[in-house]
Amino acid sequence: MSESTLAKSSEQLAVHLLDSLDFGMIALDREHRILHANRKGLEILDTSSTSLVGREIADVLLSRTPGFSLWPDAQLLAPGEFQEVMLEFEGRELILQLRWLEVAPGEREIHAILAFDDVTETMGEIEFQRTVDRFSSVGELSAVIAHEIRNPLTGIRTTIQYVASKLEDKSQLRSDLGDSITELDRIEQFTTDLLQFARPKSMQLEEDDLSPILSKVLDNLDQSFKAAGITVKRELADSLPAIPIDPDAIQQVFLNIVLNAIEAMPTGGQFRVSTSSRRYRSRQAVEVAFHDTGCGIPEEVFDKVFDPFFTTRPNGTGLGLSISLQIIKEHGGRINMRNRAGGGATFRLSFPVPVPSDGDRRS
Ligand SMILES: Nc1ncnc2c1ncn2[C@@H]1O[C@H](COP(=O)(O)OP(=O)(O)OP(=O)(O)O)[C@@H](O)[C@H]1O
Ligand SMILES: [Mg+2]
Repeated sequence: MSESTLAKSSEQLAVHLLDSLDFGMIALDREHRILHANRKGLEILDTSSTSLVGREIADVLLSRTPGFSLWPDAQLLAPGEFQEVMLEFEGRELILQLRWLEVAPGEREIHAILAFDDVTETMGEIEFQRTVDRFSSVGELSAVIAHEIRNPLTGIRTTIQYVASKLEDKSQLRSDLGDSITELDRIEQFTTDLLQFARPKSMQLEEDDLSPILSKVLDNLDQSFKAAGITVKRELADSLPAIPIDPDAIQQVFLNIVLNAIEAMPTGGQFRVSTSSRRYRSRQAVEVAFHDTGCGIPEEVFDKVFDPFFTTRPNGTGLGLSISLQIIKEHGGRINMRNRAGGGATFRLSFPVPVPSDGDRRS
């Protein structure tokens, strides 16, 4: 066997070995350019080798984890434990568990090796289940309380209205009673929200497209966006696969999230809404993402925003996101939220497409 044939076959063997690994791997040269990505790495990123090789790693995988950089020389010098980071690849957010592997100094052209695994789905699942578990007991209690408050309210309202009708039109007392009715309206609205949270109406699912519902919500809020000085960018996919949804309920979810974004940008900003159809390894999903440039979600309340009654707003009931979560759950979907590196928040919804995925490359 000639020397060049031997070199070629050992290179093939190396590629074969790398491709048989069950974690992603990217080899980089001294200039931080990608030399090679193994089969699993390409599968995780859902891309081809030709679109990676030769490009600088930090241009390809954008860090979405504050304070994390993809080319930390210090980390390279001391290969560490697996780190969980959020990255963006071609507009898609991924949570990767990654670490740098040690390379013998002076070893050929390979300068560093990045090993990684995709935990996007697992992480979302754990967070989601934790939230759902916490909800069920709070929900039962809320239903009882809301129910008990609502009934006497009807009696109080009837009495006040009766007494008011006996008073002169312009009397101060009649005006005071009118104020009481307004306050009663607020309590009633609150208990209606509460009951909806605690005992959501059963969903009437029908195959439909999310885009027109989303467009309608955005159109209806046009004046509110203008009044707040918010510019809206719609990046809606031309055609999305139809999925089983309850249009009224989904409209309410979109409305809650968009209203939150408006409230988070009282002095104006940018609001970007995108829809896409994504194929994951084990499923296909329709995704809707809402990005705002508002105040973001303070770290200390990050775990609480989906809790019923949690609010940081003087007039908020704190039920918007908890009701939304419940509706999304009824659709078999998921909701994730992140603070954006440059400020503001992103809410990302994902709904399953109920057709067998023909793109499962593991099969
Ligand atoms: N886009 C966002 N940016 C920053 N904080 C947000 C955003 N969306 C939600 N939040 C935080 O999450 C909290 C809970 O939101 P949620 O919609 O459940 O209740 P709320 O808006 O306070 O009241 P309401 O029941 O009227 O919707 C908010 O009070 C706010 O602190
Ligand atoms: Mg809200």
